[in-house]
Amino acid sequence: MAHHWIATRPGDLDVFAFEEYDVQPPRPGEVAIAVRAAGMNPADAKHVARGDASEFPKAIGYEVAGVVSAVGADTEIASGPVAVGDEVLAFRIKGGWATEVTVPARDVFAKPPSLSFGEAANLLLAGSTASEMLHVTSVGEGDTILVHGASGAVGVSALQQAALLGARVIGTASEGNFDVVTRYGGLPVKYGDGLEQRVREATLQPVVAALDCVGTDEAIDVSLALVSTRDRIVTIAAAARATRDGFAAIAGAMPASQTYRDSVRARLVRLAGEGRLVVPIARTFRLSEAREATALLMGQHPGGKLVLEPEAQVRASAAH
Ligand SMILES: NC(=O)c1ccc[n+]([C@@H]2O[C@H](COP(=O)([O-])OP(=O)(O)OC[C@H]3O[C@@H](n4cnc5c(N)ncnc54)[C@H](OP(=O)(O)O)[C@@H]3O)[C@@H](O)[C@H]2O)c1
Repeated sequence: MAHHWIATRPGDLDVFAFEEYDVQPPRPGEVAIAVRAAGMNPADAKHVARGDASEFPKAIGYEVAGVVSAVGADTEIASGPVAVGDEVLAFRIKGGWATEVTVPARDVFAKPPSLSFGEAANLLLAGSTASEMLHVTSVGEGDTILVHGASGAVGVSALQQAALLGARVIGTASEGNFDVVTRYGGLPVKYGDGLEQRVREATLQPVVAALDCVGTDEAIDVSLALVSTRDRIVTIAAAARATRDGFAAIAGAMPASQTYRDSVRARLVRLAGEGRLVVPIARTFRLSEAREATALLMGQHPGGKLVLEPEAQVRASAAH
């Protein structure tokens, strides 16, 4: 019998429930995946905390990697033909925190062999968000840009994708994470009082765009002070400030964001497979420990992505 995590109603960790469920056999245009790793993102908890009551109970988890366990009739995945036993990743799906899940085949891609299941399961939500942030702010060759929260999951992807575009990044982080920013090609600057001055001192070039992965007033105020045009500022965490101050806020639930993010998935999978886009993993938990993992995710930034592994997978790894 399969298991999955659902949220019974809007709320905190106490509304998370690990339940048995029947996996739907895939119809045409769908595949079933035996999950080897489920990715974790702040959105998993945030969308439970402030969800609309009519959406509940709802299954949690937007991305997974695993092995195809069944294929609907006449069905190909986004990357081409598929067969039972193929290793795949899937995003953006519903109910990924599961031992097995049936998903639309258009959201499933062949897993590059060089990626672990945990890396593959954490690639696309952060990666496609970072990609859209760079797109919305028209970042290109020779630009000097500011990324707030550069040591976080979205920030690390933004650092790498900005470098591929030929841009230079000044990235905010706590001092303990300066090495993360440096490792992915950024120039680290400490957030907190005096941030604007420290950024000005860090570069002789004008800062032409700002990408906010944090949402604090400090991050927004410094972006507004340093970047001359508001159409080159974007946030993923301060929608109210964006409305008030006239710059862009983006979110995966917005139709335009969904379309853009869907369109970059195949390229991100290819970049990751080539080793040009790295997904740092901080820690792996058993799937049944999702509450503890979520508490870590939503507390102090864990220093990389978190992975949920179904128990059978944990047992298999231990045996080797
Ligand atoms: N709208 C969207 O489409 C979308 C998509 C993905 C994520 N998000 C949101 O974007 C945010 C980042 O997500 P993530 O997955 O990258 O999170 P994460 O991995 O936990 O990273 C959090 C980042 O914020 C930094 N930070 C923490 N406190 C800070 C402060 N007071 N001032 C400045 N920086 C601070 C951390 O730096 P240190 O650890 O170095 O202190 C770290 O770089 C979350 O709020 C998430 O919900 C939105």
